[in-house]
Amino acid sequence: MPRALIEDLVDGALRVKAEGLGAVRSRRQALAGRSVVNCFFEPSTRTKTSFELAGKYLGADVVNFQTRGSSLEKGETLEDTVRTLEALALDVLVIRHAVSGVPERLAQAVTIPVINAGDGFHEHPTQGLLDVLTVYEARGRIDGLHLVIVGDILHSRVARSDLWGFLTLGAYVTLVGPPQLLPSAWHHERLRVTPYLADALKEADAVQVLRIQKERQSLAGLPSWEEYRAQWGITRERAEQLGDHVLIMHPGPQNRGVEIDSEVMMRTASQISRQVTNGVAVRMAALSWVLGGADEH
Ligand code: CP
Repeated sequence: MPRALIEDLVDGALRVKAEGLGAVRSRRQALAGRSVVNCFFEPSTRTKTSFELAGKYLGADVVNFQTRGSSLEKGETLEDTVRTLEALALDVLVIRHAVSGVPERLAQAVTIPVINAGDGFHEHPTQGLLDVLTVYEARGRIDGLHLVIVGDILHSRVARSDLWGFLTLGAYVTLVGPPQLLPSAWHHERLRVTPYLADALKEADAVQVLRIQKERQSLAGLPSWEEYRAQWGITRERAEQLGDHVLIMHPGPQNRGVEIDSEVMMRTASQISRQVTNGVAVRMAALSWVLGGADEH
């Protein structure tokens, strides 16, 4: 996404929030008569629910496509599934899939807009936008701020979308984690990659803590959870040293006591609930944009 589009969508989300989601709930009918279909081929709580709420708050009809019990179980392809949904006169597809590139591939099979709700290790664009919105609301700017992203960077779509979003808006980004979970070939003048958390935290205005994906514990050389917490966990002690001026973020879901301590999630600096709330506003802006109601978001 170019800078102007990121700014437009974040502005749209800010306008939604200024009105208040409660007001929006009763008043807005910008997408009345339009329909949104949520196709989540991988589990989700935040993204799926907030896309559903976003569509409903805008007056759209929202269909949650259920993979279980669908004709996918009879061997129908993903392409034929989305073509069928298009033939049912649905207006926008929201797609999450465990395999990188599936939303883009399916977008070639239909003529209606497709929104990527998270694909494999690749991208999670609306998460990137809501994270930008969250830091912008707390700090009043993105340009020149320093975001530290800590965790399994290599396998994280959130890290990628945050990285491109924050760099595009002029922030500095440091990626931190175990060496085998860090990228080796990402370069940008405002990007640093390091295994040393203490160093990175000295510069931080905001820290995005990523979920350690337990399914990767079999990776050669990965530390035990206790070692991980000791070296890269945002523990109560580390959060106390940071103070409350450094924003603590996590896209969720969390492994409490591994990458983040429960006490840290309760601190004043924690933006975790705000990130979830901001997901609705950002997704309202995104749905309005793709359905041509940019003036309405
Ligand atoms: N952050 C995020 O994508 O969470 P869900 O998997 O619950 O949607």
